[in-house]
Amino acid sequence: MSLVALGVTGGIGAYKAVEVARGLQKAGHDVVAVMTQAATEFVGPLTFEAITRHRVIVGQFERGANADIEHIALASSIDLLLVAPATANIIGKFAAGIADDFLSSLYLATRAPVLLAPAMNTNMWEHEAVQRNLAVLATRGVKMVEPGEGFLACGWTGKGRLAEPDDIVVAAGRLLMPAQTLAGRRVIVSAGPTYEDIDPVRYVGNRSSGKMGFALAEECARRGACVTLVAGPTTVQPPGGVETFRVRTAAEMHEAVVSRARDADVVIMAAAVADYAPVRVSQKIAKDGDELVLRMARTPDILADLGRRRAAGELPKTLLVGFAAETSDVVARAKEKRRRKQADMIVANDVSRTDRGFDVDQNEVTLVTESGEEAVPLGSKADIARAIIERIEPLLARA
Ligand code: C5P
Repeated sequence: MSLVALGVTGGIGAYKAVEVARGLQKAGHDVVAVMTQAATEFVGPLTFEAITRHRVIVGQFERGANADIEHIALASSIDLLLVAPATANIIGKFAAGIADDFLSSLYLATRAPVLLAPAMNTNMWEHEAVQRNLAVLATRGVKMVEPGEGFLACGWTGKGRLAEPDDIVVAAGRLLMPAQTLAGRRVIVSAGPTYEDIDPVRYVGNRSSGKMGFALAEECARRGACVTLVAGPTTVQPPGGVETFRVRTAAEMHEAVVSRARDADVVIMAAAVADYAPVRVSQKIAKDGDELVLRMARTPDILADLGRRRAAGELPKTLLVGFAAETSDVVARAKEKRRRKQADMIVANDVSRTDRGFDVDQNEVTLVTESGEEAVPLGSKADIARAIIERIEPLLARA
């Protein structure tokens, strides 16, 4: 059972937090409600007390509550801080590090994951101040359940309505520690593009953001694995809690992955590795003529090389997982790729769609293994990562 601190702030959606508390309990979690003063204007603390069967914390200076320094005690015992609804005010305080009440102090004092379910008027939601604060919180790893669109309590129609309680409960469940199914396992994940230099100032790259590989690395770490991330040049920040090696070219990635593969239980090649690299020239190419012809040479195929090494007995225990980004005959090509590269699993995705896969937050894939193929429906890259790892785990157990 996990302990969730449910922060309730002063928005009209506060009454829906009651349903969130019940949903968390139904999912087997213990809930402590922490209300701001403004929230108590919308819902009485007694409601949460009756549901959670815990004293509801509102003020920082309540008599009898200070024998233990309560926000510090709670901060170190919770598994998640969930704020639903989160007003523009609490988002601003969290972003700025203001600690003038119990909830904002709890945010600073806890090391548990933090999930916000914002709810506010459309104009407030769209305001640059709010969006900037959310961006700041995102860089600190704070997660968010986006507000919904529709008719708002203030009479407006637009984005800002608190997400559905069920969706908030599902999002909370994802942040709570899963079973440590990968404890003691070593995983290498490659992510992002590679950049292949043309001359001292130019390169050939691709649009991979690294997000899929980062989500995989994060999920493996959450399940207790010791994760090494080998990342190409990305602007997206890699997740915390994993050892990250930065590389630039396919050749560098090859060296970084192969030199560590012997100790790994799994190598997941989620990187979009360049297949060809320009035959590099040492001087900047001058502008000359209407056309420029680049000579390119094959890069090392890292996954295929790992497959060969394993077949030769060099990597007896390493499971190999690759990706196949295709624009047609997706599954057939993935099957062929799995055989040719001697991989255990190929995660195939159709990159002809602009709303999923490459450089976007969502993905939809098919997992191709020796025993067949399994479609994973459209979802966030975190959802897809979970599905991939859930399929890898039984293969690992067998290996
Ligand atoms: O052959 P293709 O590039 O479609 O295969 C994709 C899979 O192979 C991905 O898992 C990718 O990370 C890996 N790959 C590799 N080395 C390359 C090219 C691709 O390991 N040079």
